[in-house]
Amino acid sequence: MTKLYDHKDYNVPANRYGDDVEAVLIPEDALQARVQELADMVSEKYKDSEQDLMLVCVLKGAVFFLTDFARKLTIPCEMEFMAVSSYGNSTTSSGVVRILKDLDKEIEGRDVLVVEDIIDSGLTLSWLLKNLKGRGPKSLEVVTLLRKPEVQTAKIDLLDVGFDIPNEFVVGYGLDFAERYRDIPYVGTLHPNVYSELLGL
Ligand code: IMP
Ligand code: MG
Repeated sequence: MTKLYDHKDYNVPANRYGDDVEAVLIPEDALQARVQELADMVSEKYKDSEQDLMLVCVLKGAVFFLTDFARKLTIPCEMEFMAVSSYGNSTTSSGVVRILKDLDKEIEGRDVLVVEDIIDSGLTLSWLLKNLKGRGPKSLEVVTLLRKPEVQTAKIDLLDVGFDIPNEFVVGYGLDFAERYRDIPYVGTLHPNVYSELLGL
């Protein structure tokens, strides 16, 4: 079972975005510890596979999770990247998915693990899974770092979830708002005035 994270009592570590980050939701050490647990579970599950595990990373948000996760695995893996669009600078899902960059390799007959940053409505991921399934992988699973269980409209089977979080817009550890804040090593929330300023409202 995953914990619902709703802690607002951490100090916000100094960062290059001034006072934009209002609160820390998941601190760096908790993220790293949970990523280790997920990597241990996946290493165990695929340890007897005939072929190397193929990690599919959905750009860009999942990159930070992927690189930490992959380095904590004890089994060999390959990494493939895909870019889809479902968000512009807005903070709500449009439900419209477009492939901006496809995988470089065929996944037919392979054990595929999609490494996701966050499941909000789940619309992007359910579309992606249908698409990948059509390519005939031997197995297809998903591990996501974050999930907003109060939001999900699409039902998706997940191998595991890092953290269930409240229905709030979060940034850091790969997640952006208007392409900023990805480099922050923890997951946090923004001051409300950041949205209006960046969106020019
Ligand atoms: P969904 O289709 O609504 O599940 O949205 C999936 C994508 O939206 C994620 O892969 C993220 O890129 C983005 N997203 C959803 N919620 C957040 C958030 O709280 N912060 C930053 N990006 C988010
Ligand atoms: Mg994004």
